[in-house]
Amino acid sequence: MEKNSDQHRHALTGMQLFKAITATVICGIIMVEVGILKFYVMNENQPQISIWLTMLLLAIFAFVFLGGLLTFLMLARAYIVSDTRYYLSYLSAIALTFSVSLLLDAISPLLIAPGFAALIIVQLSRKKQDAFIINFITATIIFFTLLLEYMMLSGEVSTIFPSAFDGTNYYLWMIITMSLLNMCAGAIVPVALRDKTHRLNYALVGALILVCSVALYVVISAFYSARIELFKESWLVAISGVIPILAALVLNPLFEGIFNLVTDNRLVELTNSKQPLLRRLSVEAPGTYSHSLSVANFAEMCALAIGEDAYLARAAAYYHDVGKLSNPTYFTENQSGYNPHDDLLPEVSAAIIRKHTTDGYELLKKSHIPIEIADIAIEHHGTLPMTVFYERAKKLTDDELDPTAYSYHGRTPTTKIAGIIMICDSSEAALRAMDKPDGERVDKLLRGIINTRIQQGQFDKCPLSLNDIDIIRRTIINAYGGIFHKRIKYPGGEGVGR
Ligand SMILES: [Fe+2]
Ligand SMILES: [Fe+2]
Repeated sequence: MEKNSDQHRHALTGMQLFKAITATVICGIIMVEVGILKFYVMNENQPQISIWLTMLLLAIFAFVFLGGLLTFLMLARAYIVSDTRYYLSYLSAIALTFSVSLLLDAISPLLIAPGFAALIIVQLSRKKQDAFIINFITATIIFFTLLLEYMMLSGEVSTIFPSAFDGTNYYLWMIITMSLLNMCAGAIVPVALRDKTHRLNYALVGALILVCSVALYVVISAFYSARIELFKESWLVAISGVIPILAALVLNPLFEGIFNLVTDNRLVELTNSKQPLLRRLSVEAPGTYSHSLSVANFAEMCALAIGEDAYLARAAAYYHDVGKLSNPTYFTENQSGYNPHDDLLPEVSAAIIRKHTTDGYELLKKSHIPIEIADIAIEHHGTLPMTVFYERAKKLTDDELDPTAYSYHGRTPTTKIAGIIMICDSSEAALRAMDKPDGERVDKLLRGIINTRIQQGQFDKCPLSLNDIDIIRRTIINAYGGIFHKRIKYPGGEGVGR
């Protein structure tokens, strides 16, 4: 079992780095173009320096910050850069926030959407700190770009900074305070939106940003007490706190769909029984559907017990056996009396059963289900042998048999969730077949299942530790007792709940 975490299993290849650098350059070019549009088309007064020099300065800002971000992500979050979907979604959030903020600044700097980048990223990212980091970088680029614009328009570089703080330069004071608010909002969003599936939390974030905006606005108003027109703009403050939340809520499913990302909201949607593949499973393979729901209950509890993503565990369990839709009646749980394998050669039977992992992988990819779930479908049986068919074949011939003809040809689990699904899947099937289960027998059965898989090298590429596996075993025993409404007495009398 590998000791590295799921996030670090992707080593950065030359091609991935090339793609990341190309995407960064394109993002930088878009930002430079938006800057030129804002400076030269949307301003009444034209900047006092040439357009080429402006482009050069904007490009320096964009590439210094984006290059810094890419370097940071490569060092601390290599899995984001290696997964083009995530890196592109991050860059898109930055470019979109930059463009929207610059265009809104043409109306008023009070509208510079505070926390907009964080609101997009927090819903897409698996790590909430990412939202703060991306928002901070975006807010900084916006600030320097607006500062550059102001310097170019006023041409009074030497007096800019004193005037920002002595109460004589309203605009400059506004972009400084709004940028600070933008950075504060980036810190509020990931903390307040811990549970992204709880919609009321979005209202809470909106209220918090609004409170911060109003507080800053009061400070600005007091500072510029002579400028009564400030009060006429107060409605803009309210808009700047609410619009980013609404826009991010609308954009979230678009980002998820375009980049095919795994997010909490997407995973919750995928476990809705009205999803086409689940609907098909319940109608065409009801036994498999029922088995998948039971595996999901175990997997969710196991994921929670070892600090993994419970939403992903549940969704992966729902879809792990969709490959059985190709031949539902060849699987025991969908049979009622007749078993077609009785009329088939063991090798043919093994080939049909084996195919459900690869069929599932292909079907999930074709159905635009996130790749994380498809990967688990192909990994949930690893390369395990199909002992029943191997033993049956041995009875039919004296020749040497090729064990791989009676084994799964998938991949062994490469993530903790895939490991959980492998254990819960086989445990659920074995427990269902067990007569008169009691604590001791259940415990023995699970230990046997787990030890066999360890010995057969199924967890060699899986980051699950032995301690994780022990917690998973005890969680399944506890959950099994709960499902059957009786407490399974644990050997030795100790509790199994965590
Ligand atoms: Fe399976
Ligand atoms: Fe299964």
